[in-house]
Amino acid sequence: MKYGYFDDANREYVITQPDTPLPWINYLGCQGYFGIISNTAGGYSFYRDARLRRVTRYRYNNVPYDLGGRYIYLRDEESGEFWSPSWQPTRHNLENYSCRHGLGYTIIGSSYKGIEARTNYFVPLDEDLEIWRLTATNRRSQPASLSVFSSIEFCLWDANDDAANFQRNFSIGQVEIEDGVIYHKTEYRERRNHFAYFGCSRKAEGFDTQREAFVGPYRGWEKPLAVERGRLSNSVAHGWAPIGAHHVKLDLGPGETQEVIFLLGYHENPQAQKFDPPDSQTVNKKTVKPIIANYLDSANVEAALERLRQYWDGLLAICQVATPDVHTNRMVNVWNAYQCMATFNMSRSASFYESGIGRGLGFRDSNQDLLGFVHMVPARARERILDLAATQLPSGGAYHQYQPLTKRGNNDVGSNFNDDPHWLIVGVAAYLKETGDWSILDEPVPYDNAPGSEQPLYEHLQRSFQYTLDRLGPHGLPLIGRADWNDCLNLNCFSDTPGQSFQTTTNKDGKVAESVFIAALFVLAGRELAEIARRRGREDEARRYLAEVAKMEDTVREYGWDGEWFLRAYDDFGRKVGSKECAEGKIFIETQGFCVLAGIGLDDGRAQTAMDSVAKHLATEHGIILQQPAYSKYYLELGEISSYPPGYKENAGIFCHNNPWVMIAETRVGNGDRAHDYYARINPSARESISDLHRCEPYVYSQMIAGRDAPTHGEAKNSWLTGTAAWNYYAITQWILGIRPSFEGLEIRPVIPKSWRGFKATRMFRGVTYHITVTREGEGNQAALRVNGVATEGAVVLPPAEGQREIAVDVTLK
Ligand code: BGC
Ligand code: NOJ
Repeated sequence: MKYGYFDDANREYVITQPDTPLPWINYLGCQGYFGIISNTAGGYSFYRDARLRRVTRYRYNNVPYDLGGRYIYLRDEESGEFWSPSWQPTRHNLENYSCRHGLGYTIIGSSYKGIEARTNYFVPLDEDLEIWRLTATNRRSQPASLSVFSSIEFCLWDANDDAANFQRNFSIGQVEIEDGVIYHKTEYRERRNHFAYFGCSRKAEGFDTQREAFVGPYRGWEKPLAVERGRLSNSVAHGWAPIGAHHVKLDLGPGETQEVIFLLGYHENPQAQKFDPPDSQTVNKKTVKPIIANYLDSANVEAALERLRQYWDGLLAICQVATPDVHTNRMVNVWNAYQCMATFNMSRSASFYESGIGRGLGFRDSNQDLLGFVHMVPARARERILDLAATQLPSGGAYHQYQPLTKRGNNDVGSNFNDDPHWLIVGVAAYLKETGDWSILDEPVPYDNAPGSEQPLYEHLQRSFQYTLDRLGPHGLPLIGRADWNDCLNLNCFSDTPGQSFQTTTNKDGKVAESVFIAALFVLAGRELAEIARRRGREDEARRYLAEVAKMEDTVREYGWDGEWFLRAYDDFGRKVGSKECAEGKIFIETQGFCVLAGIGLDDGRAQTAMDSVAKHLATEHGIILQQPAYSKYYLELGEISSYPPGYKENAGIFCHNNPWVMIAETRVGNGDRAHDYYARINPSARESISDLHRCEPYVYSQMIAGRDAPTHGEAKNSWLTGTAAWNYYAITQWILGIRPSFEGLEIRPVIPKSWRGFKATRMFRGVTYHITVTREGEGNQAALRVNGVATEGAVVLPPAEGQREIAVDVTLK
C-alpha cells in the first residue's frame, strides 16, 4: 500500500494521506538554520546545533511523536468551527490533503468546507530564518470571513536543559512584542546575544506569548481555548512557557485568494550592541528589522524560493542518469543525493530517531558521508576534512565524535575505536579524486586542536595508517579497541551493569581481540595512501605501504578465512567470531563486503565464494542481513550486538549501510545482476508499494530494516541520518553505473545487469561536463570507450585540454 507518489518532474514526494504509518519528514535549511518538518507540520527548528541553539520546542517521546510544530489554525467566523489545514493538531476530515516534500521546502495543505489553504515552509539560502507562506482561497459561492492563527512554542535554547530543568526554566522565559513581531529573549539579559523572532505580514488583531493563555488550562494543541474563542489575549510571557501566536483576519470573496507570510528566525547581535538604548534591557532590533521587512514582502519570498530551486538544480545537475530503472533514476537524480546533503548537514544529530541532544559529528560517519556529497559541495567537504583531521590525536587515533559548535573532540565519548583513523584516508582519497586539489595535503592541521601541533594533512594520513601497525594482535590482525565499524561488537567491554553505555564505559585495554574488518579497511586505505604517496613523489613510502598491505592480505588469507567466507573477528579469549565453529553469529556481512571491496580474494576465488555465501546465508527479499544466526541470548564477551532482540539493529537486522559494500563487491567479481538486485531490494522508492510494511519514508534510506528473525521482518527504522545514504549513492553511481572519479581522471567501468541495453548519464567533473552513453552489445562488462568519437585505451577519460568544457563519451559493453 502507498500513501502518496513521486512527482518526478517537480522533484517532490507527494503524500496524499496524512496518517502515514510514521511521521514522514523533510529538512528545511542547508547552511546554518535548520528545521525538521513532518507531513502534518510537526517538528522543530534550530540554529547550527540542535542541542545548544534550539529555536522551537520538541517534546521527546510524545504521542504521536511529531506533535508540536508549526501550526496554523483556520476559523470560520460564522460557524465558529476551526481546523488545521495540515491535519494535525485538530485532525479534521480534510479534503484534498497533500504534503509535498520538495528540495528544502515542504508544502502542506487541504480543503475544508470550501476553504482551500496551503502553506509553503522553507528556509531561504543564506538566512537564519524560516518562512511559512500561507495562501487561502475561498471556493464557496459566498464570501467567507476567516481568522488565521499561527502558533509555535519556543525552546529555552539548550534543548537538553529545556526538557529537564523546570525549577529554573519556569521562571526565566522572557519576550518582547513590537510592531506585531514577537521576540523571544530568554537569557538575553545575561549571557546570550541571540534571540528568536516570529513575525507576520498582516496586521495582527492580537497575539499570545504565554502558552497557557493560548491553549487554556488542561488543553492541548488540538483544541486551544483562544482559537475556540476566536480571540487572543495579548498575553506577555513571564516565565512558564513562551510561545508565539498571531491572529489575522481574512475576508475572502468567492474565488478570492489571499496570502499571509509568517516569519520565524534566529538572530545574533554584536556583544556591545545588545541593547537599544544601550543602557536599557530592551533588545536592539535595528539589525534584524531590515531582514524581517524584507521577508514579509511577497515578491522577496518568491525570489528566495526561486534561488532555493536554483541552488538544488545546480547541485543535482552534477550527476544525472537515465537508466531503464525508474527507482534507480529517481534515487540517484534526486532523493539519494538530497539525503546525502542531509547527512552532511546533520551528521547523526537531529531526526525523529536522533534526538539532537546526543551525538555530535562522528569521525567515522562524517568521513564516509563525504563519499556521497563531495561532488556537490567540494569546498565544504574540504573544510569538513580539515575539521575532522584537527580532532585526530597524536597517536593517529581519533576522537570518535566532535561537537559542531566548538569543533572540539568529545571527551565524553573518547577514542579507541580502532577503525576510525582509516576513514580519514578514505575520505581524503575521495576528495582528491573528485577535485584534483592536492593542496589540501599540505594544509597544516593540529592534533587534538592543540595550537603548535600543526602538521600537513598528509602526515595525519600517515599516522592513521601507522596507528594500526602499532596495534596488531596475536594473529597479526588489527586489535579492535572499543569497536570497529560495528559499534556493537564490543569485544573488550564485558559489561554486566544495566544502563552502562557499551560505547563509552571503561574498556579493558585488550591485547587479544582482533578485527578482520579493520584488516580489510587497512588494505583499502593503505592502497589509497600508497597511491597518494606515489603521486607526491614519495616512492619509498608508497612501497612501504604496499608491503604492509600485502602482509595484511596474507594475514587475512591465513587467519581471516573460514573456508566459505571471511571471519569477522577474534574475541578476547582468542576465539573466532563469525565462523562455522560458532553456535550463533556464524557469518557476518561486513567482512564479506569489505574484504572483497578492498580487493582481497579476487585472485584466488575466495571473493566469489564469499559472495555466494552471502547470497545463501544472508540475502533476503528485504535486503542483506548483518549476521546469521542471530544471537538469541546476551554474550558478555560480545557486547551490545547481543543485547538487541534477534532481527534488530546489529543483531541480524538488515543494516542498510553495509548492503552497498556487498553491491560493490559483486561488481568487483563482475556480477552486475546481483549487484543491482541487492541495490533494488533496499531502494526506498522500489519499496514504496509496501509502505505499510516498510513504514518509513519511501524517498530516503533508513538505517535498518528488520531482519528475518524479527516478528516485523521488512519494517524500516531510523530513517534519514545514516551512512546508508552515502554508500548506496557511491555503490550505484561509481560501481554499478561505474562512473568513478579516479586520481587521473574520470573512470567509466559499468557493471550493470545483463538485461539493461545501456543507460545515459551526465556528470560534471573538475569543471568539465561528460555526456556519457553506455550501450550493451554483449552480456559482459568489457568496456570500450570512445571519447568525442575517438577510440581510447583503458577506462579512464583523461582531463581534456584547457578550455574544453564538454566531452562526449560513448561506452560499449561486451
Ligand atoms: C547502535 C549503533 C550506533 C551506536 C552509537 C548503538 O546503540 O546500535 O548503531 O552506532 O549506538 O552510539
Ligand atoms: C551507526 C553509527 O553511526 C555508525 O558509526 C556505525 O558504524 C553503525 N551504527 C554500525 O554500528
